[in-house]
Amino acid sequence: MPVYAATGASGHLGRFAVQQLVARGVPPSDVVAVVRTRGKAADLAARGVQVREADYSRVPTLGVALADVDRLLLVSGNEAGQRVVQHTNVIGAARMAGVSRIVFTSMLNADRTTSPVADDYRHTERALGEAGVPFTVLRNGLYMERYTDHPSEYLEAGEIKGAAGNGRISAASRQDYAAAAVAALVQDEGGSWTYELGGPAFGLPQLARVISEVAGAKVTYRDLPAEEYADVLQRAGLDATGARFVAAVDASIARGELETRSADLANLLGRAATGLAEVVRAAYDLLKVRPGTATQSTALPC
Ligand SMILES: NC(=O)c1ccc[n+]([C@@H]2O[C@H](COP(=O)([O-])OP(=O)(O)OC[C@H]3O[C@@H](n4cnc5c(N)ncnc54)[C@H](OP(=O)(O)O)[C@@H]3O)[C@@H](O)[C@H]2O)c1
Repeated sequence: MPVYAATGASGHLGRFAVQQLVARGVPPSDVVAVVRTRGKAADLAARGVQVREADYSRVPTLGVALADVDRLLLVSGNEAGQRVVQHTNVIGAARMAGVSRIVFTSMLNADRTTSPVADDYRHTERALGEAGVPFTVLRNGLYMERYTDHPSEYLEAGEIKGAAGNGRISAASRQDYAAAAVAALVQDEGGSWTYELGGPAFGLPQLARVISEVAGAKVTYRDLPAEEYADVLQRAGLDATGARFVAAVDASIARGELETRSADLANLLGRAATGLAEVVRAAYDLLKVRPGTATQSTALPC
């Protein structure tokens, strides 16, 4: 039985991947959750998963954490300006540890998108190609949760503001991206692969319509120029860098860069990706059960 490891296992995507590996029947003792802080993975340890501490920036910790690992899910880091070095550290440590496949979560259309973070992913993909270890690049589209983690805010405002124009977004839920990552780990067929992953595309006017239907209250989409949208975000409390970043992602959506017609996600899942209405419904159901729990997401998109 191969030993699997997932980094970022204290975060959303990595934790889902570990949980899904176990749910698929991989013995928990053959699953390694790589985390910076052991205590954040106490739930996984309680299920018998091996929890090992490592930091992408501290090379010696990575070698120890990846000992005996056969197949590795490298979840991209979230520290701006550090990611290329950090990812390259993990790839190097995996090669030294004899890992036979690295599955990396990249971003949709990484080779052509103008998104401000695309260079991090392009450089990491290049490092993977140069490492000589078979790899699977999962170019993940946006997370659907970007639009469903703050349902009460849309209802209170009666509108969704953005700068995405008529751009369409091939978003999918984190659970689906995790399931695709697990499939790529488990069905190791040899060779190196790059997949463009996204669910059925939607635009922000359509998102507003779906929310209106599900919540039974009118929500519309208001499109703004990117600079104006960045100002709105700043007035709402985001710092200038974060606001410019979020607006730039919308501009990237407007240019069609976060849309894909690829069937790779459905093919990896062996089923259709979870649809927009279903994810929205789950978010609004949660809001009804636990009012006030779903607040504005501060997570930046990539
Ligand atoms: N496609 C999209 O829309 C989208 C949106 C947001 C993010 N992303 C990317 O997708 C990744 C996963 O998303 P997520 O929602 O699971 O993010 P998340 O919940 O923020 O989890 C990020 C994970 O990375 C770990 N990490 C960060 N820096 C590390 C380091 N130096 N060494 C070791 N571990 C480190 C964090 O550990 P700690 O718990 O110790 O902090 C955490 O476990 C993000 O990191 C980001 O690169 C994509």
